Amino acid sequence: MTDVRDVRVDELAKHVGETVTVRGWLYHRRSSGKLHFLEVRDGSGIVQCVVAKQNVTPEAFARANHIGQESSIEVVGVVKEHGRMKGEFEIDAADVRVLAAVSREYPIGPKEHGTDFLMDHRHLWLRSKRQHAILRIRHAIIKAVRDFFDDRGFTLVDAPIFTPNACEGTSTLFETDYHGDKAYLTQSGQLYMEAAAAAFGRVYCFGPTFRAEKSKTRRHLAEFWMVEPEVAFMDLDGDMRLAEEFIAFIVARVLETRREELKVLERDVGKLERVTAPFPRITYSEAIAILQANGHAEAKVGDDFGADEETVISSQFDRPVIVHRYPMDLKAFYFKKDPADPLVALNMDMLAPEGYGEIVGGGQREDDLAKLEAAIAAHELPPEAFEWFVDLRRYGTFPHAGFGLGIERTVAWLCGLPHVRETIPFPRMLNRLAP
Ligand code: 4AD
Ligand code: MG
Repeated sequence: MTDVRDVRVDELAKHVGETVTVRGWLYHRRSSGKLHFLEVRDGSGIVQCVVAKQNVTPEAFARANHIGQESSIEVVGVVKEHGRMKGEFEIDAADVRVLAAVSREYPIGPKEHGTDFLMDHRHLWLRSKRQHAILRIRHAIIKAVRDFFDDRGFTLVDAPIFTPNACEGTSTLFETDYHGDKAYLTQSGQLYMEAAAAAFGRVYCFGPTFRAEKSKTRRHLAEFWMVEPEVAFMDLDGDMRLAEEFIAFIVARVLETRREELKVLERDVGKLERVTAPFPRITYSEAIAILQANGHAEAKVGDDFGADEETVISSQFDRPVIVHRYPMDLKAFYFKKDPADPLVALNMDMLAPEGYGEIVGGGQREDDLAKLEAAIAAHELPPEAFEWFVDLRRYGTFPHAGFGLGIERTVAWLCGLPHVRETIPFPRMLNRLAP
């Protein structure tokens, strides 16, 4: 059969009536005696291949009924539109070949498995329909992130992974040996983006970041991907507008390009369709008042928000809410103080709806040399490590702002997942470094 085309499952619509070859893995098999139904998965989709006794050799017919789940196989046959399901295609098999039979029974079957078991088999679990849908949505989010900034005059500037200094506090640093010196895995590319903003005006970095989070939560990973824009001559208001436009863009793109995957995940898309700009904005003080009025009578100015508090605040709104101007004491050293109230920071956090928590953190940066030096001292950070960063205030200092969006929390929210562990191909958590 020399004229048989190799096709991917997602291209079958273009080949109705033709004889094609599909290569993939056996996802599921059932038989009615005279007909064997093989569901073949090739990464682009799943197609049902119908093996009828009269269409194949007796050997091929017998073989088809004994192929183990996840064996790699090749099916040659004619593409047909599915009888009942519009837009679905089948293959009438003319031949079925096993490329590599499984050497053991595939461990992930249709029965329920515990989370630990599935996480231990993450390298195989990725093949399942749900995981496939989640990671396709993750890809769409990442593409939307890049398109958003690339189409708005931002320059991509990659930040280093090994760093000599802490950005987000010293309690979550991963320390490593760097040729005899101490180095840390980066917590954030922000400080480098501040330097880059003075070189390019509008910049973003996008890469893995690391936090040695000591607590086990549904929202924290030790290694997560963050996108961090930084813009010269932008203030906190501009930062909030940028973040809201950005998030609305990502949500719209996922709704536009990943309907099928959202359906697999049984995501309530109505909740996502509401996510259009403008988003509500409240001050930290208003957030405290919301907590007090909603079962947290003990809440007071100075408290930081945990998952419970974030859920109460965000459940007052049907789209993401931006909380701005937190007490300086709760925030990192680099924020600018509000000129109207030096006890509060010109910062903002965006809380996702439906209890998905903080997805964005950012704000306006301290651009005054003396104030930044004082903040570094007050946070007991080693001044030598920040000399280069302070330099940015010596050579043409400028107002600037930016933020960081965590990709995994965004994936969890858009997919409707209770835990971030399924939002990244190979999660790194407090108790997990494998596979
Ligand atoms: O609020 P964070 O710590 O902000 C920064 O790192 C700033 N330097 C960013 C900037 O202004 N350029 O982190 C930003 C976001 C959070 O809102 C959250 O979405 C995500 O990163 N994030 C985590 N995601 C998963 N696991 C963790 N341990 C995370 N820590 C933060
Ligand atoms: Mg934060």
